[in-house]
Amino acid sequence: MGKKFYIKTFGCQMNFNDTERIRGILRSIGYEPAKSWEEADLIILNTCTVREKPDQKVLSHLGEYKKIKEKNPNALIAVAGCLAQRAGWELVQKAPVIDIMFSSFNMHQLPELINQAQAGYKAVAILEAPPEDEDKIWEFPTERDNPYCAYVTVIKGCDKFCTYCVVPLTRGRERSRSLESILDEVKRLVDEGVREIHLLGQNVTAWGKDLEKPVPFSELLYRVAEVEGVERIRFTTGHPKDLTDDVIEAMAEIPQVCNALHLPFQAGSNRILALMDRGYTKEEYLEKVAKLKEKVKGIALSTDVIVGFPTETEEDFEETLDVLRRVEFEQVFSFKFSPRPGTPAASMEGQLPDEVKTDRMRRLLELQKEILSRVAKRYEGTLQEVLVEEEKDGKVIGRTTTNKWATLKGGKELLGKIVKARVVKASPFNLECELVEVVK
Ligand code: SAH
Ligand code: SF4
Ligand code: F3S
Repeated sequence: MGKKFYIKTFGCQMNFNDTERIRGILRSIGYEPAKSWEEADLIILNTCTVREKPDQKVLSHLGEYKKIKEKNPNALIAVAGCLAQRAGWELVQKAPVIDIMFSSFNMHQLPELINQAQAGYKAVAILEAPPEDEDKIWEFPTERDNPYCAYVTVIKGCDKFCTYCVVPLTRGRERSRSLESILDEVKRLVDEGVREIHLLGQNVTAWGKDLEKPVPFSELLYRVAEVEGVERIRFTTGHPKDLTDDVIEAMAEIPQVCNALHLPFQAGSNRILALMDRGYTKEEYLEKVAKLKEKVKGIALSTDVIVGFPTETEEDFEETLDVLRRVEFEQVFSFKFSPRPGTPAASMEGQLPDEVKTDRMRRLLELQKEILSRVAKRYEGTLQEVLVEEEKDGKVIGRTTTNKWATLKGGKELLGKIVKARVVKASPFNLECELVEVVK
């Protein structure tokens, strides 16, 4: 019987895309997916370390998964991803049950690491920088959960070094993937039935700057849209500083680019933005938003916010609430500031007590709930294009181009189709719709 793997993934969409690649690698060497971790011969935790909470989750999962060795002494436990990259051997000392460690730099080395571990060695391959043959990873097949919408990583790493953020330390400097390699993958995906391409990068709008012949990100949007069969394009995450006019133009001009953008602002106070080293002011952010709303009609914006950054006062926090009120985001991901080892903000003076962060977070969520129910109501009676992704009990579920979940009556024949639907009832997290027609 073939060996079985189980992967638990934490963190951002890029990490989920990495997991799809790891699954592809494991399939290519004969592994099959296990139904649960208890049946696996290889358990991989693909980790995140962006805040303290995900770190703790990884440790508690390791505590549980180590029981596998009582039943199956040959079973291997691997830790991949950002926590592996940040903590390295320190983590193995804390959790000696770990057999294998690698990161997003060297996923392609996994087959050799498994061999090493099977021979009884600790296969800890945490490198200081990405290896020369890093691009090998694009040659492996990927195994995806969603047959219609596919993530395509186009740039790795981040050069921004926001003072609170660990990502540049775990993912390295920005490395753009070549245009040919991206378009090859997009073509392959479309041939397999994918209709929506979601371009990924921690700072995706920086794509192309570091290529031998630099290419602007907007050009990538045009080139992906030219691939026959690409019906929808999304991209995440855009940094406000790199959201240049040509990208906004491209969003407005290319019919397949979805009416949605995730544009994290993090904080509303200019003093805090400067301490974060985000490279823009509140006014500049709001200006970009105004331009987006003017050029890309009906665009839905989402964002990330940090509450309780060191020295944040009541007045600073009010500025954050002010941005929420003005922009009316359709989705807000808010986080309490979490000091990360090795980042400047972790040792800044004026760290706030947890009660203050919790209280501000509660107030932010309350305000956002109010805004969201108002924004959602505006969908009622409108016509939306929905790409149907799932079918269950006579109903189908999909997303609008504004990235909202929509539900309507229908069967399997609608799977993978783009349909026009009328919104009958809108709540913050779901649009109940009626089918008008199947578009394509
Ligand atoms: N590249 C993206 C963000 C990636 S990390 C960008 O620049 O927008 C995802 C989110 O986690 C960030 O937007 C931020 O809101 C949050 N985050 C990152 N570091 C954090 C920290 N130390 N404490 C709390 N939240 C943090
Ligand atoms: Fe982190 Fe800033 Fe880079 Fe985003 S842009 S990944 S927040 S350093
Ligand atoms: Fe987490 Fe790494 Fe993504 S730290 S948010 S998994 S880049």
